[in-house]
Amino acid sequence: MSQESLDIRFRRAVRRATGEVTVEVDGRPIAVGEEDTAAAAILLAGALPNRLSAVSGSPRAPYCMMGACFECLAEIDGVPLQQACLVQVADGMRIRTAKGSPT
Ligand code: FES
Repeated sequence: MSQESLDIRFRRAVRRATGEVTVEVDGRPIAVGEEDTAAAAILLAGALPNRLSAVSGSPRAPYCMMGACFECLAEIDGVPLQQACLVQVADGMRIRTAKGSPT
């Protein structure tokens, strides 16, 4: 999937009038809404796939955005295996995607 098609798929339909914070996704700073989740930051950064399946090695990405699928696992502020869709961003948050198995 090209970066351009990712940009189209994950562009916000509505820009909310909230403040912005800056987080790091894999070391790259990105401005996100203060009410966004870490999974939204991963999608906005285009840091996909955010992990690989432990069984098949297939690429994965945040899917349900409500804590059900566990496809959004990431290291957040040094704590591994966080469900990024359940963590609200904070200014200076460091999000690292996991390119290997979740073990
Ligand atoms: S995106 Fe499904 S649990 Fe986070």
